[in-house]
Amino acid sequence: MVANLSRPTLRHMVMETLDLQASDAGIAKAVELLSAGGLVAMPTETVYGLAADASNDTAVARIFDAKQRPMFNPLIAHVADMDVARRIGAFSPMAEAVAQSFWPGALTLVLPIAPGAKLSPLVTAGLDTVAIRMPAHPVAQRLLRAFGGPLAAPSANPSGKVSPTSAAHVREGLAGRIDAIIDGGDCTVGLESTILGLDGPPRLLRPGGIPVEALEAMLGPISAQTHSDRPNAPGQLASHYAPDAAVRLEVTAPKENEIWVGFGSGCEGAVLTLSANGDLVEAAANLFRVLREADSLADRQRQIAFAPVPEHGLGRAINDRLRRASAPRP
Ligand code: TXA
Ligand code: MG
Repeated sequence: MVANLSRPTLRHMVMETLDLQASDAGIAKAVELLSAGGLVAMPTETVYGLAADASNDTAVARIFDAKQRPMFNPLIAHVADMDVARRIGAFSPMAEAVAQSFWPGALTLVLPIAPGAKLSPLVTAGLDTVAIRMPAHPVAQRLLRAFGGPLAAPSANPSGKVSPTSAAHVREGLAGRIDAIIDGGDCTVGLESTILGLDGPPRLLRPGGIPVEALEAMLGPISAQTHSDRPNAPGQLASHYAPDAAVRLEVTAPKENEIWVGFGSGCEGAVLTLSANGDLVEAAANLFRVLREADSLADRQRQIAFAPVPEHGLGRAINDRLRRASAPRP
C-alpha cells in the first residue's frame, strides 16, 4: 500500500541559479525574473547586490529568506535616475544638492519616504525613512533602466558573512537560493556605500566607499551614529563580515599560528597584503577578497591577523569592516 507520506518541508527550496552575462539577452532575462518576483544578483561598483522588485512584498521577503537576514534590518532601494528616486524619497534642497554631487556613486541617502511611494514595507522595515542609492556601475544602471522601478538590494551574501565582490563570491554563498547572477566582473570600490542620514541634520550611519571627508567638505562636520545597541542603521550589528577564522587587528608582530595580512611597507613577512604600497583605494578594493583568501588558508588552529590601517579616507570604512569581522560572534 502506498502510504500517504507527508512530504518533507524543505525550509529552503533548492533552485537552479542561472549565470547571466551582462549582455542585452542577459539583462532581458534578469528583468523577466525580477518582474516575476525573482531574486537576481547584480554587480555594483561597491559590492554585488541581491536585487528584487522593491514594490513586491513576496519578492522582498524572499531576499530575507535567501540571506537569512533578520527582518528588522531594512534594505537599500536602488534607482536608475532622480525621477525614480523622487518617487520614493522626499528630497530636501540639501538632499538634492548631495545627490547632484555624489550620484551615481557609492553613497546611500536615508530620507523620509515620499508620500504615495510604492515600496514594500519590508524594504524599510516599517521605518518612515527609506535608504536610496543610485549606483554608477554600467550593468546596474542598464538593469535598473530596463526594469523601470526601484530594486531593493542588500549585499549578495548570507547575512553576517563577508560581502561579495565577484560573481563567483555570490555563487559560493547563495547558489541554489536565488534565481540568477549577472556577471559584471570584479567590483572596483570593494566596500559598501557610505550611508548618510538626511532625514534631519546630516548623520553618518555607515562609513563606506565615499570618504566622509568628501561629504564634510560640502556639508560641514557630520556626526557619526554607528555601533550603538539601538542602531540607526539596524545593519550596524557588532559582528558582521565574519570569516570562519578568528581575526586580530593592529598586528605588527604576528604570532606563529597567524596568517598575517599586510598593509604598506614593514610587512615583509605577510602572506597576503591589502596593498603593498599602502594605497587605501587599492586596499578597499581588495579587502573582502583577501578576507576570503585568508579564511580559506586558515584552519582550526590558525587565525587571521591584520596589520594596522590608517583611520582616514577609505581607511575609516576598512577599519569599520575589520572591527566587525573581529568582533565576538553571537
Ligand atoms: O554598497 C551598498 O550599499 C550595497 C550595494 C548592493 O548597494 N548594499 C548594502 O546593503 O550594503 P546592506 O543591506 O548590506 O546594507 C544596508 C544598510 C543596512 O545597514 C541597513 O540597516 C541600512 O542600510 N538601512 C537601510 N534602510 C535604512 C533606513 N531607513 N534607516 C537607516 N538605515 C537603513
Ligand atoms: Mg551587507
